Amino acid sequence: MITTAANAGDITQENYNFLQQHVYRTSGIVLDDNKHYLLEARLIPIVRKENLRTINDLCALIKATMAGRVSQDVVEAMTTNETLFFRDIVPFKVLRSSLLPPLIEERKASKKISFWSAASSSGQEAYSLAMMLCEMGLQDWNIDILGTDLNEKMVERARRGAFAQIEVNRGLPATHLVKYFERHDLEWRVKPILKRMVRFEKFDLRHSMRMMNGCDFVLCRNVLIYFDMDTKRSILQEISKTMSPGGYLLLGAAETTMNLSDAFERNAIEGASFYRKK
Ligand SMILES: C[S@@+](CC[C@H](N)C(=O)[O-])C[C@H]1O[C@@H](n2cnc3c(N)ncnc32)[C@H](O)[C@@H]1O
Repeated sequence: MITTAANAGDITQENYNFLQQHVYRTSGIVLDDNKHYLLEARLIPIVRKENLRTINDLCALIKATMAGRVSQDVVEAMTTNETLFFRDIVPFKVLRSSLLPPLIEERKASKKISFWSAASSSGQEAYSLAMMLCEMGLQDWNIDILGTDLNEKMVERARRGAFAQIEVNRGLPATHLVKYFERHDLEWRVKPILKRMVRFEKFDLRHSMRMMNGCDFVLCRNVLIYFDMDTKRSILQEISKTMSPGGYLLLGAAETTMNLSDAFERNAIEGASFYRKK
C-alpha cells in the first residue's frame, strides 16, 4: 500500500469553505476562492504551534472549540496588519495645512479635538497623528486620539508603543525618531508626550458605534477593501453618525464612499480625497 505523508497545508474544499465562512462571520473579511497560498502562509504557523499535522486538523479543532482561543488566533492571522508611520503622507500634509487650521481657530476656547484611527493595527497611524499635532504646537490641547482594531494582538502592540528598527525605518523622519522615541535595547518606545494623547481599544467595525460620538476626524484607511459592499455600506453609515457636522473622514487611496454612502461630500485636495460629513 502506498501512503503519502500529510502536508501542513493540506485542506479539503469543505474545510476551505468552512474557513471562508468562519473568517467572514467573525471579521467581515471576504476570503476569495483562490487564496489557498494566503491561507497556508497565515495558518501553518498556528498548525505548528498547536502541534497539529495539517490545516484540516486545525479546522477540526476550531469546529470542536468554536469560540475558543484557536478560533480567534485563526481570524487574527487572517487580518492584514500592514501599516507604517505617516502612510501615504499627503493626508497628513492636508490635515496640517488645510483641514485642521479652521478647526483650531474654532476650538480656541475648548482646545478639544478628537480623532478616531479606525483599524489602527499596531498604532503607527495614531502615533503619526500625535506627532503631527505636537509639531503644530498642540501638545497642551485636550487631544483625544482613539485607535481601534479587531485584532487584540495588534491592540496590545499599539498600547505598548514599542517598535522595531525596521518599523521606525518606514515613514518616520529621523528628526521625529530622536524627538519622540527612546531606545530600549532593540526597540524604540514612544515617549509619554505621545502616549498621553493616544488610547487603544479592541473594536469590530461591524458593531454598533453608539459609544463613539463627536469625532472630528475619522481615519478608516485600508480596511474597507477587505469587506463586501453591504458591510462597507453599513460601516460608512455608522461612522457618519459618530462624526461632528463638518468633520472629515479619511479613507485609503483605493477606497471611496461613492455608491456606498451619501452622508459625505467629497473634497479633492492635493490629489487625495477627503470626505466631509454633510
Ligand atoms: C491594512 S491594516 C490598516 C492599518 C492602518 N489603518 C493603515 O492604513 O495603515 C487593516 C487593519 O484592519 C483590521 N480589521 C480587519 N477587520 C476588521 C474589523 N471587522 N473591525 C476592525 N478592524 C478590522 C485588521 O486587524 C488590520 O489591523
